[in-house]
Amino acid sequence: MIQFKNIDIYYFSGTGNSKNCAIWFQRSAQEAGTECRIHDITRLEHTKITAPDMNTLVVFISPVHGFNYPPIMLNFITRFPRGSSPVVLMNTRAGMLIKNWITPGLSGITFYLSAFILALKGYSFRSFYPVNLPSNWISVHPGLNERTVKYLHQKNMEQVEGFASAILSGARNFRSCFELIQDAIIAPIAVLYYFIGRFFLAKTYYASADCDNCGLCSKNCPVQAIHTIRNRPYWTIHCESCMKCLGNCPQKAIETAHGFVGIIIVIYNLVLLSLMYKYVYPVSPIIDNALIRFLIEPVILIAFTSAAYFIAHITLGFRFFERLMVFTSLTKYKFWGRRYKALKQYGNKS
Ligand SMILES: Cc1cc2nc3c(=O)[nH]c(=O)nc-3n(C[C@H](O)[C@H](O)[C@H](O)COP(=O)(O)O)c2cc1C
Repeated sequence: MIQFKNIDIYYFSGTGNSKNCAIWFQRSAQEAGTECRIHDITRLEHTKITAPDMNTLVVFISPVHGFNYPPIMLNFITRFPRGSSPVVLMNTRAGMLIKNWITPGLSGITFYLSAFILALKGYSFRSFYPVNLPSNWISVHPGLNERTVKYLHQKNMEQVEGFASAILSGARNFRSCFELIQDAIIAPIAVLYYFIGRFFLAKTYYASADCDNCGLCSKNCPVQAIHTIRNRPYWTIHCESCMKCLGNCPQKAIETAHGFVGIIIVIYNLVLLSLMYKYVYPVSPIIDNALIRFLIEPVILIAFTSAAYFIAHITLGFRFFERLMVFTSLTKYKFWGRRYKALKQYGNKS
């Protein structure tokens, strides 16, 4: 028996996995005769979102970034109107393949934090459902091969459609809560990522000389984080590292600057921290304490990285530095740099 009159799906997606999930869910709902609308949250005006009624199922879908929903989704949920309708929380996370076994990604605090916020607003829950689609995070691991990408799409499409049908018939699914212990262990990393990691990461992208300034990356950036400085895309601190720009650049000119990151980490640890410990902390016992150091040092890291990133951006105008940056970027190499975009044919209705 169908439980809901309408379904509203709100999704955020960098490289298309979460968008595909929204489409798969919608397809199941429509086949069951339920009206289902999907909304890209980057195109919605907050003031126009009204509270859903009791007969509407609300579904939120977003990738996991640093063991949590990315800030854009968290902000959306935080500003979502109060209500009492049922909610399904879904995430897409880094699936990989060993033989025919899909290794699960790590959800961390994704569901618990957003459920907490939504519960305070009055919502109740039908499911927390993770989907192990191909990882798009080629900043930290080599891009997945075609077979893996296809296999993960096919399997997950079947699973999400089955899951959607079950939810529509009134089922609940909280199996992801079996991962609670592992999620709790990585929760501190999620907090560190939210307050430090993502700002650091935002400063690891650059465009090589292959960039023809088409402007697609900044035009399509979901958080308008890419500006043009000196005729070249420049990633501001607002970047959420969703990988949309890397996945869609027609020239494949966008890289992750691994060499630059290495130099930053070495200078920060060997020079900046040494100077702090030698000259700054001893000045006063008030600043020479563990808590103050814990608070100050990430700020120094981000400030230093941002300044160095700006200088690196200027030096990209010189051929020698540009080549140096490119050849020390793993994403430049074939064995690593396969750009990721979710397969379109799995998102189409045909
Ligand atoms: C910056 C960043 C952080 C990520 N962090 C995680 C993570 O903590 N756990 C995980 O399982 N996958 C992680 N991933 C992988 C993505 O969540 C996954 O590929 C997702 O399906 C991408 O969805 P999208 O195509 O809708 O953007 C991360 C990816 C990126 C780019």
